[in-house]
Amino acid sequence: MSAVISEPLVSSPMQYLTTPAETNPDPATFRNRAMAVGLSRAALDPDPVMQFQRWYQDAIETRLPEPNAMAIATVDASGQPSLRTVLLKLFDADGFVFFTNYESRKAREIAANDQVALLFPWVALARQVEVRGRAARIPATESLRYFLTRPRGSRIGAWSSPQSQVIKSRALLEQKVAEVQRRFAEGEVPLPDFWGGYRVIPHSVEFWQGRDSRLHDRFRYHRGADGAWQIERLAP
Ligand SMILES: Cc1cc2nc3c(=O)[nH]c(=O)nc-3n(C[C@H](O)[C@H](O)[C@H](O)COP(=O)(O)O)c2cc1C
Repeated sequence: MSAVISEPLVSSPMQYLTTPAETNPDPATFRNRAMAVGLSRAALDPDPVMQFQRWYQDAIETRLPEPNAMAIATVDASGQPSLRTVLLKLFDADGFVFFTNYESRKAREIAANDQVALLFPWVALARQVEVRGRAARIPATESLRYFLTRPRGSRIGAWSSPQSQVIKSRALLEQKVAEVQRRFAEGEVPLPDFWGGYRVIPHSVEFWQGRDSRLHDRFRYHRGADGAWQIERLAP
């Protein structure tokens, strides 16, 4: 995994996003200030991941619940989109990483079409961030490193759930958990080969800051032909 850019948020590639000690104001105070100040081109970091880091830090410091919860949209072969919430577990200069079941509906859709969109709905701060890009599996060694940080119950759960498949009852799920517990009674619960991370590599990132009278600020970063990030203001 490439170098991680952020000291406080992700201080090494394998230190995952957690909620650090809070430092700051209540969301309403922060939101009012952010709405009054707005977002200007001059204030933006030239790199969207660095800009994301600033806003993510604001979400943490105002103690938003689950600031790393994001919706991810995928599209199936017929063009039908679907959406669900997942947790951002780390981000770095290359993109945004989450973990899931590689046989889930989202994984099947990504296999057919790797174009996805993410949305961070930080509505209590009158902000949202939309990321569009390509999802790619991270190497299994990196998924393993993360998996081993998970509590044993979560690791058993990952083995036990055929995510997105139709199941007859909760009892069957509990039976499966009992089986997996017996199977791995001794020692570590290993990484399932059907479970791991995806990195969403962005080609477009939009920051939306709410302002009064619906005159919101929107800035979209997108990669130009030369690979450099370009920034455009969009009408709200
Ligand atoms: C707050 C929240 C966090 C979630 N985090 C994850 C996650 O990190 N990974 C995951 O696979 N599912 C997560 N889920 C469940 C997904 O929303 C979804 O139900 C599941 O991944 C199956 O999606 P799919 O059938 O579209 O593939 C989360 C749900 C919520 C509400």
